[in-house]
Amino acid sequence: MTRYFSEDTSEQAVIARLENCDDPRFRTVMEGAIKHLHAFVKEVEPTLDEWMAAIEFLTKTGQICDDKRQEWILASDTLGVSMLVDAINHRKPHGATENTVLGPFHVAGAPELQMGDDICRDGIGEPCVVRGVVADEDGNPISGAELDVWQTNGEGFYDVQQPTEQPQMNLRGKFRTGSDGAFWFKTVKPVPYPVPTDGPVGQLLEAMGRHPYRPAHIHFIVSATGFEQVTTHVFVDGDPYLESDAVFGVKDSLVLPFEQDGDAWSVTFNIGLAKAA
Ligand code: BEZ
Ligand code: FE
Repeated sequence: MTRYFSEDTSEQAVIARLENCDDPRFRTVMEGAIKHLHAFVKEVEPTLDEWMAAIEFLTKTGQICDDKRQEWILASDTLGVSMLVDAINHRKPHGATENTVLGPFHVAGAPELQMGDDICRDGIGEPCVVRGVVADEDGNPISGAELDVWQTNGEGFYDVQQPTEQPQMNLRGKFRTGSDGAFWFKTVKPVPYPVPTDGPVGQLLEAMGRHPYRPAHIHFIVSATGFEQVTTHVFVDGDPYLESDAVFGVKDSLVLPFEQDGDAWSVTFNIGLAKAA
């Protein structure tokens, strides 16, 4: 083996430079990154123009990010990496509700509401009641569980995407279960909507021949003392985008029937929490 860099031994040449890295976990991470990056380049054999296009994509993705816009997370989401990291870190026991992506539209400090309150403040959309019980893995109700919920309005926009059109904290709220573990609130039936497409990730999706839509869903973060927090959604059964969610967030157990009774819709979403490790 030559002392210098060569096409054949490129990854070994770079990995050898980690010899003075004294953080073993960081070293493992970097070795993996270098090994797979070199394998990727050897498989694809990019032209210089293609390599430059990749650099430009990475540059633009960084440049569009600020405290409100996180294009890197969107890139990770749309390439399935967020859901893979999530799956590896949330291998749930039977009886515990599965996780899915957090997404970029969670806002801390949603109003604390009373059971049965309506989170819809703009009246846009079809009325819907959401109910369920928060329980442990064995089905025992959990008292004092907090549910932080958020969704788009009936036109498919989060309040933070339309700060001048929607009331602040529209379709957001926190609820706390009583001794029966039950919760219920009023809202509007969620609708499918596109992830932001006005940046480099939107262009990437288009170049890959992919649509940007997410199937209709309501977001939940559910937490209770002594239990692992779950970040999840309930999806509307029958939605046309369930099998092609732009961010791969759908899981069978999270797709539920929304029933129509007169003008109003309703869904029952029972939530299981795993005991904290
Ligand atoms: C969302 O469901 O809010 C979302 C998730 C990932 C990317 C964009 C939006
Ligand atoms: Fe969403």
